[in-house]
Amino acid sequence: MTETVTVLGGTGSLGFGLALRLGRAGYAVCLGSRDAERGAEAATRAGALVDGATYTGGSHADAVAAADRLVVLTVPYASQVSTLAPLKGRWRTGQVVLDATVPLATVAGGRPTQLVQPWLGSAAAQARAAIDPEIDVVSGLHTISAAALIELDEPLEQDTLICGDRREAKAVVAEVLSGIDGLRVVDAGRLEVSRLVEGITPLLIGINIRNKTHAGLRITRLPGRV
Ligand SMILES: NC(=O)c1ccc[n+]([C@@H]2O[C@H](COP(=O)([O-])OP(=O)(O)OC[C@H]3O[C@@H](n4cnc5c(N)ncnc54)[C@H](OP(=O)(O)O)[C@@H]3O)[C@@H](O)[C@H]2O)c1
Repeated sequence: MTETVTVLGGTGSLGFGLALRLGRAGYAVCLGSRDAERGAEAATRAGALVDGATYTGGSHADAVAAADRLVVLTVPYASQVSTLAPLKGRWRTGQVVLDATVPLATVAGGRPTQLVQPWLGSAAAQARAAIDPEIDVVSGLHTISAAALIELDEPLEQDTLICGDRREAKAVVAEVLSGIDGLRVVDAGRLEVSRLVEGITPLLIGINIRNKTHAGLRITRLPGRV
């Protein structure tokens, strides 16, 4: 049976682009939204773009229920906790949350090339605190641009750094994301390291603004890898 991966905030830029790539990789994708109808509409749009892929859409709660193992969170920093809070008690044992949130300073009227400092140290730590303790939280995708994801015929040719406290949970994330053409997953360490990784995004946004592109990140000379 085809595995279903859920994307909360799947109607947005990163979530929708990721859903397209995951559908292409052979996963069924459920797109979660604050509005079930908006989730369903996004699923229809995605289905029209990826031949043979299965997309469904619904409320965030429905989307969490639909996920076999992986739930990806792709909402703005300002709405991260308000998205997660109503989902308390709705997670299933064995599910893993992949949090892509970056605490960009735009949340407080700042620039996308600046970061705000979450009280708990990182957006990932904030997600950890808002999700049932038995559910694993991994962070990642911070440097993957939505604009690159939707160019479906271009392989990504970049890395994503993931952070998390349990190797088994990071293995689930790595297995699913590695299905995306040209995306390599690099384990950056424990969840506490996410505060450093989240900081790479505003740096990359500045580089991208100066070069008018959507560049990503590549870690070189890893043993046994390309
Ligand atoms: N865009 C990128 O290239 C990129 C790259 C790496 C990481 N990220 C991170 O990924 C996350 C999502 O980024 P994005 O650009 O995809 O965001 P986005 O398009 O602005 O929003 C994603 C979805 O979140 C929901 N949302 C928006 N505003 C909300 C609010 N005030 N309250 C509750 N829900 C709200 C909306 O879904 P519904 O209205 O359907 O509920 C929206 O479609 C952010 O944390 C960002 O830092 C983005």
